[in-house]
Amino acid sequence: MSQDDINLTDPAFFGSGDPHAIWRRLRSEDPVHWTEGRLAKKFWSVTRHADAKFVLMNDNRIFSVQHAGANLPMGPEFEDPEASLFTQLAQSAQQLATMDGQPHNALRRYFSTRFTSQSVNGLEALVRNVSDEILADILPRGTCDFTTEYAGRLPTAVIAAIMGVPRERWDDFYLWNNMMAAPEDPEFAMGTPVETSTFGVSNIMRSVVELAEERRGAARDDLLTALVQAEIDGQPLTETQIGFNGLMFFAAGHETTRSSMSVGLLELLKDPAQIEWLRANRHDPAALRGAIDEFVRFSAPLTHTLRTVTEDVEVGGQMMRKGDWAVIWFHAANRDPAAFSDPETFDVRRTPNPHLGFAIGKHFCLGAHLARLDMAVMLDAILGSMDQIELAGPVEWASSNLFWGIKHMPIRFRAGSQITSSQAAA
Ligand code: HEM
Repeated sequence: MSQDDINLTDPAFFGSGDPHAIWRRLRSEDPVHWTEGRLAKKFWSVTRHADAKFVLMNDNRIFSVQHAGANLPMGPEFEDPEASLFTQLAQSAQQLATMDGQPHNALRRYFSTRFTSQSVNGLEALVRNVSDEILADILPRGTCDFTTEYAGRLPTAVIAAIMGVPRERWDDFYLWNNMMAAPEDPEFAMGTPVETSTFGVSNIMRSVVELAEERRGAARDDLLTALVQAEIDGQPLTETQIGFNGLMFFAAGHETTRSSMSVGLLELLKDPAQIEWLRANRHDPAALRGAIDEFVRFSAPLTHTLRTVTEDVEVGGQMMRKGDWAVIWFHAANRDPAAFSDPETFDVRRTPNPHLGFAIGKHFCLGAHLARLDMAVMLDAILGSMDQIELAGPVEWASSNLFWGIKHMPIRFRAGSQITSSQAAA
C-alpha cells in the first residue's frame, strides 16, 4: 500500500498535505490507478480529463451512482452502513445526486425549473441584498475571516432563503453541515468522526422534515414546499427522501461556493495584476463569468465523485470489472495538461476552459447558475468596495476529501468608496 493511496483516503491529509503532488504523479505515471488506501474496498482513481469525461458521460450505461452512492466513505469507520447514517443514506438511492435512471430524470426535471438561468436571474436582487447586508457589517472593520464571514455566509443565506429555512436556524444548519462534511476536523468534532457525522446529518434531516411538514396544506414559494409536493412515479417523497434531499440542497448550495470563492480570491491576491484587470472589466459580465469558471476549475471544491461499474469496461488502458468503483478526482482532471494549457497557472482570462468542476452529463451540477450568480455578486462587490486586500493571518484548509477547500482566510483591506454591491453595480 503506497503512502499516496493512504493519503487519498485520509481526510486529515487534505487539511495539511499537498494532494496536487499526488495527482501530478498519477496523471503522468498511472492515470487510472488501482488505489489501495485505508478503506477495505479498493478502487480506481481516474485522474485524466478525457477518462473522467468518459466515465461521467456513460452514467446509467456503464456506470451507476446508486449502487454505492457518489462518494468514498470518509474513513474505514464509515464503510459499514449499519454504523454510519450518512453511508446508509448515501447508498440508498433516496437523493437526486445518488439516483440512476427514470427516478433521477423525474426528480431532476421537477427541481430543475427552479434552477434554470432564467429562474436564477430572478434571484439577483435577493443575492445582492444579502451581500449588502453582510458587507455593511464587514467593511467598516477593514478586516474579516473572508471564508466564514462572506464567502460562506452569502451562499448559506441564499440557499437557506430559497429553501425557506428561517433565519434563526441558519447557524445551526451551517454547523451541522460542517460536522457532516468534515467530521474528522477537530474544529467540528463531537465524539468520534462517525458520531459527529451522524449528529450533523440527523439534525439537518430532522429540521428539514419539521420545516417541510409545516408546508403541508400551507404551501409557500420555497424549496421546502417543493420537497413536500414532489412525486416519483406518482408517489410523494418519503420522510427520509424529503430530509435527505433537503440536506443535499443545503450542503451543495453553500459548501462548494464558499471554497471556490475563497480559493479564487487567494489566487488573485498572489497576482494583483489580475485583480486590476478584473477591476477594469468588472462591468463586463463575460469577464466576471470567465473569472468564476477559473475559480471553479482551480478550486474544484467537490474533490471527487464515485461511480460503480455495471459492466466490464476499459478506461485509460485499465480493465475495470463489474462492481469496481471508479473515483473521478475533479482536481486532477481540471489540471490535466492534455486538456488545459499551462494548467497549474490560475488565469482569469483562460479560454477555452472546459473544466469539470461542475461535472458533465446526467448529474451536471443543478445549481451551477446559482453558484455563478453568488460568485459574480461577491466578486463584483469585492472589486467595487475593497482595496489593497491582503492576507491577515494563515489560511486554513478543511480536513475533508469530499468538500475540500479553505476553512478560514483572514484578510485585511481598505474599504473603497463604493460601499455596497448594488451601488457598485449601478
Ligand atoms: C462552485 C460551486 C459548486 C460546485 C463546484 C458544484 C459541483 C457539483 C458537481 C461536481 C456535481 C456533480 C456530482 C456528481 O457527478 O456526482 C454537482 C451536483 C449537484 N449540485 Fe453542485 N456545485 C456547486 C454549487 C451548487 C449549488 C449552489 C447548488 C444549489 C442548489 C448545487 C446543487 C447541486 C445538486 C442538486 C447536484 C446533484 C445533481 C444531480 O445529481 O442531478 N450545487 N455539483
